[in-house]
Amino acid sequence: MTARPPFALAVLFGVFLSLPATPQSQTTPLAVFHRSDYERPLSDLQLLGKRIFEDVNLSEPKGVACSSCHDRKRGYQGANRSPIAAVALGSRPDQFGSRKTPTIMYMAYSPPFGFYKDADHGLDKLEARGGQFWDGRAEDLAAQPATPLLSPAEMNNPSAEAVVEKVENASYAPMMTAVFGSDAFTDAKAAFARLTQSLSAYESSTLLAPFSSRFDDTLRGAERLTPEEARGLALFVDPQRGNCVACHAGKPQSKDPTDWLFTDFTYDALGVPRNPAIPANADPLTFDLGLCKRPGLETILPKETPLASLCGAFKVPTLRNVAVRAPYFHNGAIASLRDAVAFHATRDTDPKRWYPLLKTGEADKVNDLPPAYKANVIVKEVPFDRKAGERPRLDDRDVDALVAFLNTLTDKGMR
Ligand code: HEC
Ligand code: HEC
Repeated sequence: MTARPPFALAVLFGVFLSLPATPQSQTTPLAVFHRSDYERPLSDLQLLGKRIFEDVNLSEPKGVACSSCHDRKRGYQGANRSPIAAVALGSRPDQFGSRKTPTIMYMAYSPPFGFYKDADHGLDKLEARGGQFWDGRAEDLAAQPATPLLSPAEMNNPSAEAVVEKVENASYAPMMTAVFGSDAFTDAKAAFARLTQSLSAYESSTLLAPFSSRFDDTLRGAERLTPEEARGLALFVDPQRGNCVACHAGKPQSKDPTDWLFTDFTYDALGVPRNPAIPANADPLTFDLGLCKRPGLETILPKETPLASLCGAFKVPTLRNVAVRAPYFHNGAIASLRDAVAFHATRDTDPKRWYPLLKTGEADKVNDLPPAYKANVIVKEVPFDRKAGERPRLDDRDVDALVAFLNTLTDKGMR
C-alpha cells in the first residue's frame, strides 16, 4: 500500500513547467514582489498564490480567506473561529462545513485520483488512491481551489467572474499582469484558471512541505529521539503491534524525509463515531458516506469493485503536524490525539468507550454509517483485528509512546 508516487514530483514540476515565459525582468514593478524573509523561497508565481491565499476580500461577504481555515500556525488547518471545533465557519454567520478541515501540508505529494495496483500486498486488485479532499473528489491541487471559492458554505462567491473582479481590484493585481502578461485579466475564464494555478503553485511550495520536524532532523542525523519516542516509532512500524506504517506510510530503511509522508493516500473505513455537534447530523438519516459519493466515481470504478463497498471510506490523513491539528478524523469526532490513537487500538475491544449505548446496554457500534455499510469497516488489518474481550494490540503505555513519537512530527514554526 505504500504510495511512492513518481507522480508527486511530476505534479510539483508540472506546476513549475507551466510557468509561462514572461519578460518579467523588464516589466516587473519590483515593489509588488517584495518578500519577507519567510517568503524568500517562493517563486513570483507562488508569491502571487500566497497573496491570493491570504486575501480576506475574496469571500462573499468579505472576511474569509483560504488561510482563515488553513491556518499556518495550526498545520494549515483550522475552523475560522467556528463555535463548533469540528467544522469551519463559512463567510456567512450560519454556514458550517460538514467535515473537519484537513491539513493541506504535503498534499502536493498526493498523486492524481485514480485506481492503482496495491503494490504492498503484491495483489492485482486495484485500490483508490490520491486526489484532494477527504473523498478525493478533486483530481489534484490544480483542480481543487475552485471549490472553496465558489462553495456557499465556504467563500460563497457567485461565479468565477466575481472572484476575478476582486483580484483585479486587489493591491497585488500588478503581480498577475507581471507574471501572466498585460492581458492576464482580459478573459475572465482564463484569468480564473491563472489564479487557481497560482494557488496550487503556492500549495506546492516548500513552505507547505518544509520537512523541518524533529523526526526529519533525526533522519538527517542532526537529532536523536528520546527512548520513549524511539519506542513509539518501533511500535509504529511493527506489523504485529501498531502497523501504522501500512497506511500512514514511511520507508523504515530510508533516511530521506520525502519517503516519510505518513500517508499512502489510500482510502479506508475506520468506523469512527458520529459527531452530534455537526449541524448536518441533526437529521438522523443523514450520513457522510465518503468515497462512494465522489462524483463520477462509477465511471472509473474497476469491474471487480462494487461501488457500495467504498461507502464509509475516507482518505488516510498524513500524520505530519498531527499534534497541532485537533480535533481528529474526517468528522472531528475525537478531541485529543491520545484518543485518536487509542481508538485505532480499542475500537472493538472496548466499544463502549467510543460509541453511545443502545437501550439494550450494548454499544451502538459504527453509529455513523447506515446498517448496509457497516461491513465495509476494516476488521482484518492490524491493529483493528481484535474482538471484544481480546487484549488490544497496544496497551496504555504503548499509546503514550506512540503519541510521544507523533509529537516529533511537528514542523518548525508550529513547535
Ligand atoms: C470555510 C473554511 C475553508 C475555506 C475558506 C477554505 N477551505 Fe480548503 N478545506 C476546507 C474543508 C472543510 C476541507 C475538506 C472538505 C472535504 O473533504 O469535503 C478543505 C479541503 C481543502 C484541500 C484538500 C486537502 C486534502 O487533504 O485533501 C485543499 C488543497 C484546500 N482545502 C485548499 C483551499 C484553498 C486553496 C482555499 C482558498 C481558495 C480553501 N481551501 C479555502 C475548509 C476551507
Ligand atoms: C488500515 C489503515 C490504517 C492503519 C493501519 C492506521 N490508520 Fe490511522 N487513520 C486511517 C484512516 C483512514 C484515518 C482517517 C479516518 C477518518 O477520518 O474517517 C486515520 C486517522 C488517524 C488519525 C487522525 C488524524 C487526523 O488528521 O484526523 C491518527 C492520529 C491516526 N490515524 C494514527 C494512527 C496510528 C498511531 C496508527 C497505528 C497505531 C494508525 N493510525 C494506523 C487509517 C489507518
